[in-house]
Amino acid sequence: MEPRSYAVLALPRFAGRPVLTERNLTQKATFGAVKTARVGATVSRKDGHLKVTGQARYAADHLLPHVAHAVAIESTVAKGRVAGIDSSRAEQAPGFIGILHRGNAPQLHRPANDFMSASKAGEIRVVFEDDRVYYAGQYVALVIAETLEQARYAAERVRVSYDTEEPLVDTDDAMSTIFAPAEFFGEKLTMKRGEPAAAYASAAVTVEANYTTPIEHHNPMEPSASIAEWNGDELTLYETTQWVAGAKATVAQTLGIPPDKIHIVSPFIGGGFGCKGFVWGHSILAAIAARHVGRPVKLNLTRKQMFSACGHRSETRQTVRLGATPEGRLVAIEHHALVQTSPVDDFIEPCGATTRFLYSCPNVAVSHRAVRVNIATPTAMRAPGENTGLFALESALDELAYKLGIDPIDLRILNHAETNEQIRKPWSSNYLKDCYAVGAERFGWRRRDPRPGSMRDGDLLVGWGMATATYPGFRSPGAAKVRILRDGSLEIVSATQDMGGGTYTTLAQIVADVTGVSIDRIRPALGDSTLPPAPVSGGSMTTASVLPAAKQAARHAVAQLVELAASTPGFPFQGTSRDLQAAQGRVFAAGTPPESGVPFEDVLALANRASVEGEGATAPGAEREKYAFQSFGAQFVEVKIDPAIARLRVSRVVSVFDVGTIINFKTARSQGYSGVIMGIGMALTEHTVYDHRDGSIITSNLADYAIPVNADVPSIDINFIDKPDPVIDADGLGARGLGEITITGVAPALANAVYHATGKRIRDLPITPDKLL
Ligand code: MOS
Repeated sequence: MEPRSYAVLALPRFAGRPVLTERNLTQKATFGAVKTARVGATVSRKDGHLKVTGQARYAADHLLPHVAHAVAIESTVAKGRVAGIDSSRAEQAPGFIGILHRGNAPQLHRPANDFMSASKAGEIRVVFEDDRVYYAGQYVALVIAETLEQARYAAERVRVSYDTEEPLVDTDDAMSTIFAPAEFFGEKLTMKRGEPAAAYASAAVTVEANYTTPIEHHNPMEPSASIAEWNGDELTLYETTQWVAGAKATVAQTLGIPPDKIHIVSPFIGGGFGCKGFVWGHSILAAIAARHVGRPVKLNLTRKQMFSACGHRSETRQTVRLGATPEGRLVAIEHHALVQTSPVDDFIEPCGATTRFLYSCPNVAVSHRAVRVNIATPTAMRAPGENTGLFALESALDELAYKLGIDPIDLRILNHAETNEQIRKPWSSNYLKDCYAVGAERFGWRRRDPRPGSMRDGDLLVGWGMATATYPGFRSPGAAKVRILRDGSLEIVSATQDMGGGTYTTLAQIVADVTGVSIDRIRPALGDSTLPPAPVSGGSMTTASVLPAAKQAARHAVAQLVELAASTPGFPFQGTSRDLQAAQGRVFAAGTPPESGVPFEDVLALANRASVEGEGATAPGAEREKYAFQSFGAQFVEVKIDPAIARLRVSRVVSVFDVGTIINFKTARSQGYSGVIMGIGMALTEHTVYDHRDGSIITSNLADYAIPVNADVPSIDINFIDKPDPVIDADGLGARGLGEITITGVAPALANAVYHATGKRIRDLPITPDKLL
């Protein structure tokens, strides 16, 4: 479509204080020199050395004596029933120890499946629950042997026979199963505000389009693994989990044993992106296998198994209708999604969740429907709903901008939501307009000629596109303990987990901040269910949930030490507790320089104490009723396309995020890189392909499922507004999470850039070369 004439760009200039970018980093970085690693500093990972030297123990790396190895046997058909399992040849194989299947496995129980009580399973049907097959890759047996090679060999010799039925693999074939799901984690999936149909019908300018996104898999570097070890009736599970508390409760309920008999250990996680958020069948298999053979059992999933064993992002088919006034004011937004779930559980990708409130509009309708296909149950994958939903909504806005002849940023600013109109609450903070302004400035957006195909670099077509990014600012109760030890070092412990984002480091920073002790002397211990409880490292809520607790624990520990100093006979400040303070790792009298004080270790030595311990437990409160907590951002993408061979390269990305306070610019920027790179994968290459005849997975390896490699990754410029959320926590930390927002908006910004370069509107991801020809 030929765009109409363009309004003169009315981009706002950004006049605020400097945002956190590479360029103005030096001022923040000076904190590093004094080694107190203040909030906002650039601090290298506490666990970096362990990781690059191979000392970090991931789930499968724990060395247990006398461990046996298990290999899971998965269904090769997608629908039917298991007619028989013949293990006679396997039992003759060298090293064979045992086999588990429906015929001899212990009774298992469905967990409560309640997210709030930490008992949400990835798939509610327990392993071996019945003899039915619901999808290819479903576990049908488990072989245990002395070595991994022997287990693999024995597993190959097991003969499983099936009564096969024709599976429903494509959405089109499964329309007979369509239903309207009610909720997603307590949020209603259907809503209507005003009269959207009538408003659309009478709107001066309209856009209606269908958008589709394919099934995608998380593909973290580390495949999931479990090592189970029983000690009497107590179970230790070395896990790869984003939620040690959830694993503890869910495994306990599934096995039918008390949770206090279960110890979950997950110190290092090689990425999760949602596929390690809930307990999946392999963890249960490892536990029952270890009991079955009377020794520890290790079960490490193969990359192929990762395509059926721990969830995926559902395919989505979305229809967006936008109605606007000639000036570009939105008068109607409709967003209707059709997604997939499995025959055995419901996970509904909530594509329209964000559409309810991202822009100001009096008439809005959102709905979701789902079909049941013979594919394993989908799950949360980085920004479930926001990510897929924004591809549709932000593409449609770009289409509307062209129809109106308005700059895409101007259109968004014109329809900026000053409040959350869905729940009728003010934002806790919202710097979305600043994100647009900073991004436009750094990207050079003002130099954009909006006509498709108008910008060139030699023979290459150049396209510039942008989109809004957003994700909720979730927070949950969290707890932590801080110990000050006799040698002057500190420990910070919590049953949170670091899935790679940098939680070890940010927790240590908070403690350094409060105590003034060098971050080198602060040891975090995480990923263990015996530590003070913390929420799932999902929903981007770890930082906002656990750091306030750690800050409180550190303050409490320091207060204990001050108290000790005041009450210890012979101590210089005895009896003057009110006038004592602590800073720079010392206790000192008010009004004197901290350097003149007594080091923490000397206080403990004088008092003859091994340590003092502070506890912190924080939770969201009444502020949740008063405000809408949401993070925002803007993504700008430049593509260069060789029209002769339909080769598309992403040449530049500028991202700006408003996620509250940045605790550590280095790890935050890495989250930005990773989200943008994953978004490029979503936009250009990632697509899980199933054989529609038998439901088998065709692309279940990293050669056929293409994720971006270095050559696909351009210069990425990550920026943060870095203004604290004033109400999210009582301690004034002001940090919302940033794990998920970073991927949102990337795919539509890229698709919008492709339109700008070529005039081709690609509404079906991924944007493979065939679609550009
Ligand atoms: Mo995230 S998809 O909530 O791990």
